[in-house]
Amino acid sequence: MAAPRDLAFDPWDPAFLADPYPAYAELREQGRVRYFEPTGQWLVAHHADVSALLRDRRLGRTYLHRFSHEEFGRTPPPPEHEPFHTLNDHGMLDLEPPDHTRIRRLVSKAFTPRTVERLKPYVRRLADDLVAGLVEAGGGDLLRDVAEPLPVAVIAEMLGIPESDRAPLRPWSADICGMYELNPGEEAAARAVRASVEFSDYLRDLIAERRKNPGDDLISGLIAAHDEGDRLTEQEMISTCVLLLNAGHEATVNSTVNGWWALFRHPDQLAALRADHSLVPTAVEELMRYDTPLQLFERWVLDEIEIDGQVIPRGAEIAMLFGSANHDPAVFADPSRLDLTRRDNPHISFSAGIHYCIGAPLARIELAASMTSLLERAPTLRLAAEPVRKPNFVIRGLEGLAVELG
Ligand code: HEM
Repeated sequence: MAAPRDLAFDPWDPAFLADPYPAYAELREQGRVRYFEPTGQWLVAHHADVSALLRDRRLGRTYLHRFSHEEFGRTPPPPEHEPFHTLNDHGMLDLEPPDHTRIRRLVSKAFTPRTVERLKPYVRRLADDLVAGLVEAGGGDLLRDVAEPLPVAVIAEMLGIPESDRAPLRPWSADICGMYELNPGEEAAARAVRASVEFSDYLRDLIAERRKNPGDDLISGLIAAHDEGDRLTEQEMISTCVLLLNAGHEATVNSTVNGWWALFRHPDQLAALRADHSLVPTAVEELMRYDTPLQLFERWVLDEIEIDGQVIPRGAEIAMLFGSANHDPAVFADPSRLDLTRRDNPHISFSAGIHYCIGAPLARIELAASMTSLLERAPTLRLAAEPVRKPNFVIRGLEGLAVELG
């Protein structure tokens, strides 16, 4: 797969993946919307457009609430992919109202800023313990030792996944998320299908167990809501749990390591942060803007729209470039500069509109907790080896981040 020659945007080119932001600048200069043949999508790269489209009800994450695949001019997915689609299509992220509204309302109670605020001491303790382990070992892999175990433990704890069952969560999530990359191949699809079957089977059993022995976890809460008002089917419950477990750690892990790698590449900014820990809240936001963890989100055009005179018909697909929107000079002064004191920072990393990240308050607490623990307990932390970037485009991350204490 390769992009047209006149286009700097090439999500299969390692040089683009290493630093996509100059290519985004070129793309923004070329206009507001551009058809991208290799994926059959309309690319939108400006902050104002992405922001408006995320709130535009003529677009949707799915079309299946209004049209069949055939009516929408799309080929149904092959039957062998069915377990992945059944799982994916019943999660709120891939539903539109009224189903989206019903499920989001039930789940959102667990994620209000006030509820999440109560988790702060627990999250901080967890971060301190993980960082203490890293310090004791004289260094290690920031991804494996801190960035990953923290959000996995938090979301697993919230849902009530026993500690002894947690090992496969990361591989299941990684295999399922492979399907969110552009044009995933058959091998990725097979892995995602296998993970979908195993993850669903595991949760079906756990839900049955919680039905017999309820606890004070989120799964028991969803079962109670389901049994009281029949407001969540069993499939929706399974899909909701998988979505929460996957979305609940994937981007947080990547934000942590992308963020620390950016800090190591900007020693002046890291020194300023080390000298003044009160910068943590603006630093968390700026690092999420500077190297955007989720680069692209798609929407289906349910009713014809027009962008800059270009008519985009029903049935088309729009690809919104979050990384580009976050570097748009029309909104961010000096966008390619990492500025941990940046206050006016309306980045779009958590999306906008009805699918705005339900976990944003929790993600912020987790990112701030690990950053503060690392600043306080590992003040001499430094890079031990140049990291290797994951070959993915949509979910932007590193294979690991080797660190040592100076
Ligand atoms: C830095 C970390 C995170 C980032 C960057 C992030 C980003 C996003 C984005 C961009 C979306 C919307 C996608 C779209 O509009 O198509 C989203 C939705 C969602 N996120 Fe997050 N997220 C993060 C952490 C979390 C956490 C910790 C949780 C849960 C515990 C979570 C749960 C969800 C859920 C359930 C949705 C679907 C919401 C809906 O469809 O209404 N996320 N997230």
